[in-house]
Amino acid sequence: MQEKHDSAPPGLWSERFAEPVTERVARFTASVEFDKRLAPFDIRGSLAHARMLHAIGIVSASELAAIEQGMRRIESEIERGEFAWSIADEDVHLNIEKRLTALIGDAGKKLHTARSRNDQVATDIRLYLRAAIDDIRALISALQSRLLDLAEHHVDVIMPGFTHLQVAQPVSFGHHLLAYFEMLKRDSERLTDCRKRVNQLPLGAAALAGTSYPIDRSRVATELGFDGVCENSLDAVSDRDFAIEFCACAALLMTHLSRFSEELILWMNPRFGFIELADRHCTGSSIMPQKKNPDVPELVRGKTGRVNGHLVALLTLMKAQPLAYNKDNQEDKEPLFDAVDTLQATLAVFADMLSGLRVNADAMRAAAREGYATATDLADYLVKKGLPFRDAHAAVAKAVRVAAESRHDLSDLPLNQLKQFSALIENDVYAVLTLEGSLTSRDHIGGTAPNRVRAAIIKARASLDSLPR
Ligand code: ARG
Repeated sequence: MQEKHDSAPPGLWSERFAEPVTERVARFTASVEFDKRLAPFDIRGSLAHARMLHAIGIVSASELAAIEQGMRRIESEIERGEFAWSIADEDVHLNIEKRLTALIGDAGKKLHTARSRNDQVATDIRLYLRAAIDDIRALISALQSRLLDLAEHHVDVIMPGFTHLQVAQPVSFGHHLLAYFEMLKRDSERLTDCRKRVNQLPLGAAALAGTSYPIDRSRVATELGFDGVCENSLDAVSDRDFAIEFCACAALLMTHLSRFSEELILWMNPRFGFIELADRHCTGSSIMPQKKNPDVPELVRGKTGRVNGHLVALLTLMKAQPLAYNKDNQEDKEPLFDAVDTLQATLAVFADMLSGLRVNADAMRAAAREGYATATDLADYLVKKGLPFRDAHAAVAKAVRVAAESRHDLSDLPLNQLKQFSALIENDVYAVLTLEGSLTSRDHIGGTAPNRVRAAIIKARASLDSLPR
């Protein structure tokens, strides 16, 4: 163990201790291996704090200049991979502070005045997460715009819509894709909302109770781009609800992509044959030469479990923690970082994968013609001719059974046969029984009529363009 404080004997945390921590404890308690990625945010936070300390007369102009210069040097050492991270200095905060003091001397020792690592780390995580949210929102928009391109190309492609994974009613493939656009839109909105609660400054709470120095928290908040300051010092250093909330948003987003993935996997199976993923997005088998596997969507589905796990991990981490800061909170970082990394990688690869998607319109159409997808249309036809819906439902159910026995589609049955199910059926029924007729008739906001789908795409594009950046 190296020394922690200049005044303490080598190996000791401070003069308060009679013996150093063991190597095992040092390794167990250190977080630097994973929290060093907070370094850029830690430095930004420290600089804002130092400038505030100068403004209130605690740090002189020359000390501030030394701190700024030292931090620039540290930043470039880290960027170039030359910074000597040490677990003896526990975490990113102590590593940087120690290096600063080595570089500039006493001015470095003043930096920690009026703050604690407790409010420091909470600030760092919030700065990190704010940047991550902004990046993720941009990635969602990019994916949404791919979806709109794909939807636009396939407005008139008809596929069977499913309920219970059984053929239900025909829908436009573009319409189907727009369902995912809507899910992603809500995911993005949720993140925007979450960002407001992330973007509050904890610094100034110090260890837990605030500080006796005449600090200027608003000044620090403004410099760091926070919307406001955390209003209670105990809450500021202890709660990680903002990280939990982010993970909840992340879990939902992954859940949506997992649903989409499941469909892509099914559709790529030759029994469906609806789509083909580009070779560059698939992998083969080491034993079966014929295989082309949809590994990307499978992994998206799998990684959803991992992100859901991070949400549960953070909830469990916070549960039953007494106020205020507890070391438990050091465990917040790995789940949070991994949730961010997973989301970023998933969104990027997903957008990529969609751009290589090939659609087999004929297979979709054939499947839509197979499962009596227009049976509801026939029932609605009868209702419009005056039959109560339940009677219409019964008449069409009988028609479907008869058609199925002879392996015919409803539209294949001649008029005299159809008339056996209801005398109300006339020659105009065939317009209703076609896939196109079925789609066109669902002509209202949110319906699958192609003109409505086109309008929805235009509206969706406008909503993307008007997103706050
Ligand atoms: N590495 C610590 C964490 O991530 C920083 C705060 C430590 N505070 C303390 N009082 N030990 O939570």
